[in-house]
Amino acid sequence: MPDLFSPYTLKGVTLRNRIAMSPMTMYRSVDGKMGDFHVMLMGSRAAGGFGLVFPEQIAILPDGRTSTGCAGIWDDSQMEGLSRVTAIVKDMGAVPAIQLGHTGRKGSEKKPWHGKTQLPADDPNGWQVRAPSPVPYGGRYTYPVAELSIPEIHDIHRAYADAARRALDCGFEWLEMHFAHGYLGASFLSPLANQRTDAYGGSLENRLRFHREALDAVRAVWPERLPLTMRLGSDDFNEQGTQFDDAVWAIGEMKQHGLDFADISLGLNTDAMKDVPFGEVGFMVERAARVRREVGIPVGVSWNLGIPAVADRVIRQELVDVVFLGRPALANPHWPVWAARELAQNDPFALIPEDWAWWLRSRPGPEGSLGWPSVTKT
Ligand SMILES: Cc1cc2nc3c(=O)[nH]c(=O)nc-3n(C[C@H](O)[C@H](O)[C@H](O)COP(=O)(O)O)c2cc1C
Repeated sequence: MPDLFSPYTLKGVTLRNRIAMSPMTMYRSVDGKMGDFHVMLMGSRAAGGFGLVFPEQIAILPDGRTSTGCAGIWDDSQMEGLSRVTAIVKDMGAVPAIQLGHTGRKGSEKKPWHGKTQLPADDPNGWQVRAPSPVPYGGRYTYPVAELSIPEIHDIHRAYADAARRALDCGFEWLEMHFAHGYLGASFLSPLANQRTDAYGGSLENRLRFHREALDAVRAVWPERLPLTMRLGSDDFNEQGTQFDDAVWAIGEMKQHGLDFADISLGLNTDAMKDVPFGEVGFMVERAARVRREVGIPVGVSWNLGIPAVADRVIRQELVDVVFLGRPALANPHWPVWAARELAQNDPFALIPEDWAWWLRSRPGPEGSLGWPSVTKT
């Protein structure tokens, strides 16, 4: 039976444990490039023991960013920063993963702490957002949406392939397509956002065409030995939106198109969601487990899994294969070491670089003096 700290092999890639740092947009890029901040952020999490480390969603095109501060991979000049990130992550013993995305109708935003609203296309920091249908998201996303033409959809698929080729050259070893959270892929699947009447809209089969073609384009350039995965907006929690049963079928279809692993998340195609238990521990785990069981594909999941005993249990019970941590990874670069101490693993310091671990093991100092919180008494 695996536990949170068991290695995990998918295709030709082995993670040292089942703990992933989930992608998190940081709004710190200039011209879509990564720099010292990103090397620090991802390097410290790799040094802190995470097995799989994602930078934020990386835009395949300039209008696929959330804001002008977001990172991209549409130009060769962006490869140097990304390559620095993969180098430090590998050097610290983790596997570098990339999440490729296009924000669709949720692009052109301000940085959240400047007010979480959208900028109009004529603002110097804004742009015309594009999506399957000219339907604004609503709420804080108010500006008109341009409907993608079929040639534009094909251009986006080519941009996915170009991005994947660059990602490989940058040294990434795990590729996740971001088709969740109301971004472009998620909005093609959701009837709330996709009201097309051509081959990309209408039936579930048609609404999945964008996904299948994107996967085919990426799989053609991304080697078979490396995992090709997707974060899927599996449920809009709205009667008119993406239904979870449909997502289960869709993942089965995508498995036939080269999908190796599914990261089960929310659709977030509307603010009008019913009964989402956002405050509940591991509230997406049951859905991920159902995909694993019924489709026979390995799965990952995020959302409120930062309590070590819970993260360990969902792996031991073979509900999911990899636990994705967002906010816990931001809060604590050494979350895996802390979790190993909480779960009474033999040698928690085995997770960090040997040149630190040696000192911490051989010169531990007085009890409680290293700044590690005391192990929780249960
Ligand atoms: C600051 C921040 C930025 C995020 N950016 C992304 C992103 O770029 N791509 C993505 O798929 N999810 C993004 N998320 C969602 C996280 O990856 C994760 O799925 C979510 O926070 C739930 O996991 P948690 O409960 O461990 O935080 C972001 C979350 C946070 C807190």
